[in-house]
Amino acid sequence: EPAAIIAPSILAADFARLADEVHAIEGAADWVHVDVMDNHFVPNLTIGLPVVQSLRKATSIPFDVHLMIADPERWAPGYAEAGAYNVTFHAEACDDPVALARTLRAAGAKAGLAIDRDTPVEPYLELLPYVDTVLIMTIKAGFGGQKFLPEMLAKVRDVRRRITAKELEVRLEVDGGIAADTIEQAAEAGADAFVAGTAVYGAHDPAEAIRRLRALALS
Ligand code: DX5
Ligand code: ZN
Repeated sequence: EPAAIIAPSILAADFARLADEVHAIEGAADWVHVDVMDNHFVPNLTIGLPVVQSLRKATSIPFDVHLMIADPERWAPGYAEAGAYNVTFHAEACDDPVALARTLRAAGAKAGLAIDRDTPVEPYLELLPYVDTVLIMTIKAGFGGQKFLPEMLAKVRDVRRRITAKELEVRLEVDGGIAADTIEQAAEAGADAFVAGTAVYGAHDPAEAIRRLRALALS
């Protein structure tokens, strides 16, 4: 895997042309980030399993599925079975994150644990050996186009410190307000995977926007 993962979020794409929008980032992006919302865990509704199943057939880029849903135990395995590369569920929505991570791995996916804005990371640091990805929200989960919250970087530093101390192979992903003017601070804090919705799909040339973000993340 590359040193820095860039994962454009299709939440900022044209949902009527999803396959074309994914094709526009193929070759430039590492993963495509798929935001699943249920109007319950977050006050917004996006797409679900049928769309992911159909889109999976239209591209070979790895899917980074971000489940902002209640009851992830019920739904997460289906995304792994649909061919998602990484399935991330929220700590706040899950009673037994280690068990769900084990289920996802058994279904052939990597398992991710997401931490929303108002959730501290300390209680979850001991779970790091059991997951493949930790996603730190740098906004409040629910909507694209929000302003990056630099105070979330303390959490990124805490998780990075633990990954390093325990020599774990865990991807540390940030999500929310990541753009050319924020990605360097996130990388400096220790993130090595970067979700970007507006900064990629709001750009005239999404592939060029990805190359620029990658260069800044590695600088
Ligand atoms: C919001 C989603 C994000 C969103 C990011 O809850 O998890 O992935 O698409 O959008 P931007 O990059 O515009 O902040
Ligand atoms: Zn997301």
